[in-house]
Amino acid sequence: MDSRFTGQVVLVTGGAQGLGRAMVERFASEGASVHFADLNDQVAQEVVASHPDAISYDRVDVSDPAAARIWVDRVAGDKGRIDVLVNNAGVIRDNRVENITVEDWRAVMAVSLDAAFYCSQAAFAHMKTRSYGRVLSFSSMSWRGNFGQLNYVAAKAGVVGFTRGFALEGAKHGVTANAIAPGLIETPMLASMNDRAREKLVAKVPLGTTGAPSDIATAAAFLCSAEAGYITGVVLDVDGGIGIGSSIR
Ligand SMILES: NC(=O)c1ccc[n+]([C@@H]2O[C@H](COP(=O)([O-])OP(=O)(O)OC[C@H]3O[C@@H](n4cnc5c(N)ncnc54)[C@H](O)[C@@H]3O)[C@@H](O)[C@H]2O)c1
Repeated sequence: MDSRFTGQVVLVTGGAQGLGRAMVERFASEGASVHFADLNDQVAQEVVASHPDAISYDRVDVSDPAAARIWVDRVAGDKGRIDVLVNNAGVIRDNRVENITVEDWRAVMAVSLDAAFYCSQAAFAHMKTRSYGRVLSFSSMSWRGNFGQLNYVAAKAGVVGFTRGFALEGAKHGVTANAIAPGLIETPMLASMNDRAREKLVAKVPLGTTGAPSDIATAAAFLCSAEAGYITGVVLDVDGGIGIGSSIR
């Protein structure tokens, strides 16, 4: 494996499982010092154990603006730099519009969108001092609209707008901002979906299958690498083609 991140400091939110874990391990295996925030202490310790010299875990609720800022500033203070921030943490509280509670609305917006702003604003201050940075945020194929997910759709469309706006502000400081819109990827979040809903969705994927967390980690590592320096404001679909339109086989 290339060591594209040797000497770099990478922050990942929600790194204990799923896509976050795959990215934490990928960045560590490519030479980075990786710091991830999560709330699941037990699983998080397993991730640290996979590369104990390269991976650090902090219990941080990134939807808490003060906690998010303190975390980012502390890592920057300890390490002297932040090269990459991955805004990955997200939650789902699916329901039809008439049944979405105010709490479910706020929870999804807080973790998927607000936290990206808190962490990015804090990281940007450190990236600017070195005129270098990569901010990658997680949207979803759902950002274009998906039945029964109004809160999630709104948050993930918000991530697209956030990324495009942030890209303009980061550009003159050497900071890129991009997003990944995953399709159906095999993670605990997808496993929580009922079998019938899942089968119907997989049948619509042009490439005919779900993706693996490593598919996302590969795309993330590229977008966060120095070699992707001329790419900013982009939303990359990593979705087996489902974003093109459905293909019922
Ligand atoms: N898995 C998919 O198929 C899929 C598809 C589209 C988009 N996404 C997006 O990709 C991202 C990762 O998805 P995943 O499937 O790996 O999710 P996941 O639920 O498996 O993992 C999310 C992680 O975020 C952590 N987290 C949740 N709230 C947090 C908070 N307030 N502070 C800190 N950590 C918190 C959780 O503890 C968990 O470890 C999410 O933003 C999700 O919306 C996933």
